[in-house]
Amino acid sequence: MRNLFDPRPKDRRDELFDRVDELRLLDESVNRPLIVVLGIRRIGKTSLVKSFLEPYNSIYIDLRGAATHADLYERLSEGLSVDLGRLRRFIEGIRGVRVMGFEVEIKWRGSDSISLLGLLEELNRRGKFIIAFDEVQDTKPPISAELRKIIAYSYDHLSNITVVLSGSEVRLLDEFIGVNNPESPLYGRYFVELNVRRFSKDESLEFLRLGFRQEGIEPGVDVLEGAVELFDGIPGWLVYFGRSYVDHTHDINVIKEQAIHTALNELAKLSRREKAILKAIAHGARTWGQVRRFVEENLGESIPKSSLTRLIRRLELLSIVKDYEFLDGIYKEAAKRL
Ligand SMILES: Nc1ncnc2c1ncn2[C@@H]1O[C@H](COP(=O)(O)OP(=O)(O)O)[C@@H](O)[C@H]1O
Ligand SMILES: [Mg+2]
Repeated sequence: MRNLFDPRPKDRRDELFDRVDELRLLDESVNRPLIVVLGIRRIGKTSLVKSFLEPYNSIYIDLRGAATHADLYERLSEGLSVDLGRLRRFIEGIRGVRVMGFEVEIKWRGSDSISLLGLLEELNRRGKFIIAFDEVQDTKPPISAELRKIIAYSYDHLSNITVVLSGSEVRLLDEFIGVNNPESPLYGRYFVELNVRRFSKDESLEFLRLGFRQEGIEPGVDVLEGAVELFDGIPGWLVYFGRSYVDHTHDINVIKEQAIHTALNELAKLSRREKAILKAIAHGARTWGQVRRFVEENLGESIPKSSLTRLIRRLELLSIVKDYEFLDGIYKEAAKRL
């Protein structure tokens, strides 16, 4: 069993801290066609989904950055390979799927090939199966459009298949599923929605205590409370803190600076205007008008009203801010430095 401060996503229920209610809801939903798991980065979606899948015939597929068919099938065969132990019997003899020792090869073009849809049909015939697509909002056309159609088909016709979609951005609902878009193949379909919550202060404290105990050290209570205050119940940051404390430094300010840097690297991808908006919000702008004033002052240019509205909306779709508040305090600190 891995320690709590192992930075990789957990994938076993006995490695997972808490999440009892979440696992119960997921277990109760295993016969539903579609489950959606949402939550900000580092809140523990991947860990929850992987641990949920553990006892089932299932596959986990990480779709971050997948844009081509080659990407899609590569991720699919990786997913099958990782869980080959429990899947070997279940996938035996499927056309186009070859098990080579500990790896699974998928032939997806030409003779004797199989598509993702064909694979799902085959799995459906064999029994109950769960397929999880993680960070699915990050896919690009044509893969995103194709996945949407496949998921809609599975929803309507493959009664043994449960699809789990998870992601860090509300874009998953608004753009990938298209909850408000009648043109989307997934529009109007009911799904189970699970929002992964942050840990309470007590839970965070317990998380850190347990993690440090496993590492054989016992920091003072002021260190623990300082970290709980700073990282606000986000398990990924608690792990980051624990790992850094154990391996590198006992200075909480140094760890904080490193965390802010990590967040800054992610924000670097945004456009100039988006950064200025985040900076405005980080410095306390609480209304559209205040943001506009701050941004125009900051950039020395006027921004059309509709552009500003669209950019704020996009930052909400990326789950960085909501209602002029940051969802993660570390990103707020980072945004002040943009
Ligand atoms: N319930 C949990 N118990 C133990 N560790 C967790 C838990 N949730 C998250 N973690 C840890 O936090 C980090 C981020 O979790 P991850 O599942 O990758 O989050 P997300 O997918 O939401 O970005 C990982 O190091 C993971 O091991
Ligand atoms: Mg994840």
